[in-house]
Amino acid sequence: MSEYAQIIVDGKTYELPIIRGTENELAIDISKLRSQSGIITLDPGFKNTGSTKSAITFLDGEIGILNYRGYPIEQLADHSTFTEVSYLLIYGELPTAVELAAFQNATTQHTLVHEDFKTILDGFPSTSHPMGVLSSLVTALNAFYPKSTNLDKSPEAINLSIIRLLAKMPTFAAWSYKKKMGQPVNYPNNNLDYCSNFLHMMFALPTMSYDINPVVTKALDKLLILHADHEQNCSASTVRIVGSSQASLYASISAGINALWGPLHGGANQAVIDMLESIKADGGNIQKWMDKAKDKNDPFRLMGFGHRVYKNFDPRAKIIKKAADEVLTALGVQDPILDIAKGLEEKALADPYFVERKLYPNVDFYSGIIYRALGIPTEMFTVMFALGRLPGWIAQWQEMRGNQEPIGRPRQIYTGKTKRVYFPCSQR
Ligand code: ACO
Repeated sequence: MSEYAQIIVDGKTYELPIIRGTENELAIDISKLRSQSGIITLDPGFKNTGSTKSAITFLDGEIGILNYRGYPIEQLADHSTFTEVSYLLIYGELPTAVELAAFQNATTQHTLVHEDFKTILDGFPSTSHPMGVLSSLVTALNAFYPKSTNLDKSPEAINLSIIRLLAKMPTFAAWSYKKKMGQPVNYPNNNLDYCSNFLHMMFALPTMSYDINPVVTKALDKLLILHADHEQNCSASTVRIVGSSQASLYASISAGINALWGPLHGGANQAVIDMLESIKADGGNIQKWMDKAKDKNDPFRLMGFGHRVYKNFDPRAKIIKKAADEVLTALGVQDPILDIAKGLEEKALADPYFVERKLYPNVDFYSGIIYRALGIPTEMFTVMFALGRLPGWIAQWQEMRGNQEPIGRPRQIYTGKTKRVYFPCSQR
């Protein structure tokens, strides 16, 4: 295969190198095109633009492959733990038993947050969405650890910021929920594992401790693994682009949390449950809602369907669908919206509109149903996603810095008015 692509503009030929990834993906390197020709490429939404070379996650949306650092998501979901997967994503290799114990120990030691965070929390109204609270608390870490904003530090110091963030994020996430509920916050219990500690901080009350159920912690751990990274999506790209200005780790991750909040990204799992509830309240007429989704005059979309990259199936959705069945059976939960979800999926997969556009259930279609069964309220779903995605964001931020990537600064094609003369208000 040729090592160059040719672009011919006005009879002039420009040769552009072809880049090949380790899984044989191909890209045309256009980085010199503008300096050679004055021409830029235009790709709204970056649908066909590679922003970086990355060694973290490989996915092939056409055949439904998702690997973290080369390990298939199916194997990790079946055999690994979220802590181990976090280590894998951030440091590049699976840990030895000694490395894992040290990592677990470090991320457990730092779970407590400064008491003044409670004052910040008190300042939010109870109407606050937990995602807004979470992103604010994460960015506030800069104020509590001012040295962390100085990035000319030793790798050990940067690693300490990473460990702190991994450890404190479940505390912040649980506290954002307690704020919503108007309940006193719980302090972390460092005798518990990552998921059990999070559930304890979420659900224990001054009058009642929380009983850890292994079915629940295992299901939660699996969900976090499935969400841990997804290469250059909206929030990961946000983390990298904010970090490319040399903003701190905490500032970059806080930006990623905000990017994830939107209903077309991480907010979709909440939107799925809201949609299924609406269908149920409306009498469960699935066809009516399918027709709404297909009607181009109706802005409604089938939430949890379609994906920017997966055009065959989302491998995470397969694992989650099975997990949803297992968890609901193990917990003895009868959830009528699971039946609506299954009916909707069955109808959509047989409908030419969805088939032609390659719209399949994505990871969010079933994750909300599991969260509900675990007792996690709808407004916390996106927070759960952020908790899972944290090691991926950290890995993306680290890689961007390690590659010494330039500040992110796209170009544009201007379509506004051309130069004109200003007249004062009185003359207009
Ligand atoms: N329901 C109905 N129609 C849809 C849906 C949907 N969920 N998704 C896409 N379409 C249609 C579009 O209307 C468009 O139709 P057209 O070709 O007739 O104009 C076509 O399918 C292509 O859609 P695009 O928006 O161009 O696809 P894109 O790749 O840009 O969008 C996205 C992907 C945003 C995920 C989209 O499918 C969507 O809005 N889905 C619902 C929200 C959702 O579930 N988001 C979660 C994504 S997963 C995640 O972030 C973890």
